[in-house]
Amino acid sequence: METLDGRVVVITGAHGGLGRVLVETFGNAKALVVPIDLEGDECFHADVSTPEGNQQMIDEALRRHDRLDILVLNAGRQLVASIATYPLAAWDGLMDLMAKGPFLAMQAAWPHLTRQPGGRIITVGSVLSLTAEAYKPAYVAAKHAVLGLTKVAALEGAPYGLTANAVAPGYMYTPIVEQQLADQMRLRNRTRDEVIASMIGSQPGERFVEPAEVARVILFLASAESSGITGACIPVDLGALAI
Ligand SMILES: NC(=O)c1ccc[n+]([C@@H]2O[C@H](COP(=O)([O-])OP(=O)(O)OC[C@H]3O[C@@H](n4cnc5c(N)ncnc54)[C@H](O)[C@@H]3O)[C@@H](O)[C@H]2O)c1
Repeated sequence: METLDGRVVVITGAHGGLGRVLVETFGNAKALVVPIDLEGDECFHADVSTPEGNQQMIDEALRRHDRLDILVLNAGRQLVASIATYPLAAWDGLMDLMAKGPFLAMQAAWPHLTRQPGGRIITVGSVLSLTAEAYKPAYVAAKHAVLGLTKVAALEGAPYGLTANAVAPGYMYTPIVEQQLADQMRLRNRTRDEVIASMIGSQPGERFVEPAEVARVILFLASAESSGITGACIPVDLGALAI
């Protein structure tokens, strides 16, 4: 088990399916976790799609621990609809949360992450950071954008010993997936079981990815062991991108 003894980590989307497992995984590694979400009594509430929310989140980490070492930018949501019908407000909302939000978080955290070598940024992208799926225009655009942003952070962070990497999970059975099933059924004219089977079928491992499998890779990227890796995108997708 990696140990992050006393390192301060901000985790966004900490009340979600992957976020809760991240909080547990980093806690077990003895990191000082500052969990951020809109929901959940265990979380500091901040809207990470806004400049204010991102600033409040960084201020809270500094207030609690007087330092900041690691950002895990994990908050996300989904709206499934065709380009022709995609609501502009939803486009803006998804882009603000998953593309602009990570930029704002990095901007607010930058002076603290670069204060000493060893700073870490990990963004949660997706298989859809590298490929596309019909009816997810905003999500795919935002996940591509955050991967580009992560690479820029890697280049700008290198002189400070700061690494920035993305993970690209495949389908995990979490609320973001559960909540899109009805729209997928309608748009694809499929039953619930057929939609789920097609998600699993897109992954050669023929199952959902477990959040713990993703959390372990994020923990590694947050640790000193990963010091040679920056600007990378690590798939945790049971082979989906190999097809
Ligand atoms: N589940 C999958 O199949 C899958 C696949 C690839 C990538 N991902 C990515 O993994 C990450 C985690 O997703 P998940 O599967 O745990 O989904 P989830 O819906 O369970 O969790 C997302 C969390 O983000 C929080 N959130 C949403 N908007 C927010 C805001 N404005 N401010 C603060 N918090 C906000 C939600 O409240 C929720 O707790 C997301 O970035 C998602 O895009 C998920």
